[in-house]
This record gives sequence, C-alpha cells and structure tokens, in this order.
Amino acid sequence: MRRIEIFDTTLRDGEQSAGVNLHLHEKLEIAHQLERYGVDVLEAGFPASSRGEFQAVQQIARTVKNCVVAGLARSTERDIDAVWEAVREAAQPRLHVFIATSPIHMEYKLRMTPEQVLETAVAAVRYGARHFSDIEWSAEDATRSDWDFLALIIERVIDAGATVINLPDTVGYITPDEYKRMFQYLLERVPNIHRVKLSAHCHDDLGLAVANTLAAIEAGVHQVEGTINGIGERAGNASLEEVGVALAIRKEYYQATTRLNLRETVHTSKLVSKLTGMVVPPNKAVVGVNAFAHESGIHQDGVLKHKLTYEIIRPEMVGWTSNSMVLGKHSGRHAFREKCAELKLELSEAEFEQLFNAFKALTEKKKEITDDDILALYMEMNSQA
Ligand code: KIV
Ligand code: ZN
Repeated sequence: MRRIEIFDTTLRDGEQSAGVNLHLHEKLEIAHQLERYGVDVLEAGFPASSRGEFQAVQQIARTVKNCVVAGLARSTERDIDAVWEAVREAAQPRLHVFIATSPIHMEYKLRMTPEQVLETAVAAVRYGARHFSDIEWSAEDATRSDWDFLALIIERVIDAGATVINLPDTVGYITPDEYKRMFQYLLERVPNIHRVKLSAHCHDDLGLAVANTLAAIEAGVHQVEGTINGIGERAGNASLEEVGVALAIRKEYYQATTRLNLRETVHTSKLVSKLTGMVVPPNKAVVGVNAFAHESGIHQDGVLKHKLTYEIIRPEMVGWTSNSMVLGKHSGRHAFREKCAELKLELSEAEFEQLFNAFKALTEKKKEITDDDILALYMEMNSQA
C-alpha cells in the first residue's frame, strides 16, 4: 500500500469561487479544521495578491504545525519573495510556483514563446530554491499542452530544484483515461522524474474532477489536490472528501491510503459551507444531507434487513450520526412500521393498515411526511374510532 498525500487548496483555489471572500479569522478557523482533518499540505493562499491575503497566509503558517503550508506564486521574484515572507515561519514551508504551458495560454495570455516560458520557469524555480527546499512547480493548463514540451520543461525545472511536479487540468477538459496516459507518458519520457513527487489537480467543468484524480492515482501520482465540497473557480475543483472516501472504500483496488481522519469529513464540509456561504447540494456524494437518506420502499426494506444492500459507506465513518429513512410516496410498510415503533404507537394489525393507508393518501399532497404528520394521522384515526 502506498500513501497518497492530500493537498488542500480550499483557501486558495476554493476561495477563487465567485462570491466567496473569507476574512482572516475565517481562514484560520478553516485551516485548523483542515489540520484536524489530516491533510498533508495546506495551500493557505496567494500572498502577493493583497495585504490581507499575505497576513492570512502568515498567520496560518505561524499556527498550523502538522502539515506543510504552501503559498502560491506566479513566476516572478516579487511573488516568490511574498510567499517566502509569508510562510518562512511554517514548520514545513512550501513554495508553489506556476506558469502556463499550453499553446493558447502562452500565445494569448502570457504573450511568450515556448522558449521564453521554459527560461522563465527555470529561473523562477532557481530563484525559489535560494530559500525553499520544498518547491512545487505547476504547469498551468497542462492537459492542453504539448506532451513533449511538458517533458522538456519538467526535466529542466527538476534540475533547477523543483521537488513536486503538478500537472493541472486547469479547465476541466481531460478525461480519466487521457489523464492517466499523460502521466504514464511523462513517467517514461522524463529521465529525472523519479526524483520528485507527481501531483494531480483537477477542475470539474465536465463533472470529471474526482474521476480524473482517481485515474491519476492509478497512473502513480503521489499527491492529489482539491477542495472541501469541491468549491473553486467556475465549476470547482475535485472534492477532497469524495476522493478520500473513494480511496478508503476501494483501498484494495487503488492499493493506497491517506492520512485523512474521515470522521472529520462532515464537520469540515459544514464549516466550509457556513463560512464560504456555498450551500452543499442535498444529493452531493458523502456530505449532502441526502447522501444516506433512503426514501423508496424497496431500498428502505433492503437497508432495514441489511445495511450493505444499499449503503457502500457507513455514515458514521464520515461523521454522520446515522442514515435516515425519509417517509414519502415511495416508502413501504417496512419503514412505516419502524417509524410507528419509534414513535411508540401501539397498533393492532388492522389499525396499522388504516394508518398506513392514511399516510399513503397524505403523500399525494405532501412530499415528505414528518413525525408530527404521522402523530396527527394517528390522533385523527383514534378520534374517529
Ligand atoms: O488550476 C490551476 O491550473 C491552478 C494552478 C495555479 C495550480 O490552480
Ligand atoms: Zn486550479
């Protein structure tokens, strides 16, 4: 079993979600929760972007002790200096420096030739190596870049001092099989690549971020990046809680583990949702309120007989207290009988049938039936008797 390192970028890429703006104390609260959750690397922010951001990264670096604290920099001395000043007091500081490598980004955004990009990338890593022994280098828009150009630039930045090579799917464009093949190609072509850790960073524009991340793990990457609840620029990043649970549930398949404390999953998700104001959709895997709710009679009957019939994850494993049986129009007698017992209703078989029919009739008018609804139906039935 190998260990996959979890790189959390909720406070950097996640905060780039439209409408999200975290204050210093909120960033600190999230950072300390991420430390409890057990992430290996915490990307605290982009220090050169503003004074407030610099201070937040500095405070996080000073107080978070159990993970690597990274700061993001463009490939300029000013940005790299800002990261150093912000994270120099961290127990384990990391520079995360990036430059775009795809033809479209190089020509239209950077207005640089590939040769200039290569030179700038190498110079930035060399500059960073004056202070940092841990340098992550990212090829922005790697998945729309030429693979041979990637091989060349990766070889050079490794020689310049990079210790982690991250290949982001910046615009959420690639598919799992292609992403896996890209890593495999580079592992074969770059002579010094085995000296460094490889990292995957996926965006969710096609809804493939988690699938692509898992494919990269199959290809052999050592680190995966993402955010809590999958928040981030546009459609967001890979949801770390989904990746963490997938690795735990399919451990034998992936032959990999993480250091995540999965019981902190729901708490971490709720905190990030509360402080960012980004609501978690009810059907979101693992952390949505419906993720362990069973409504249909067939599923409820199955789960009441044996949980594994319809639950591949134990809700307690990720911090929920239990699963839930939602009573609605698809529910059957088995779950309804359990609910009557829970509400301590003493019923003969005939009364049970009468109450069940009244409940079914109510589901025609109401989507979800609450305990109070059932008690009201029970009282009505008794008053008519
Ligand atoms: O998506 C991306 O390319 C990034 C880089 C800055 C690492 O977030
Ligand atoms: Zn990103």
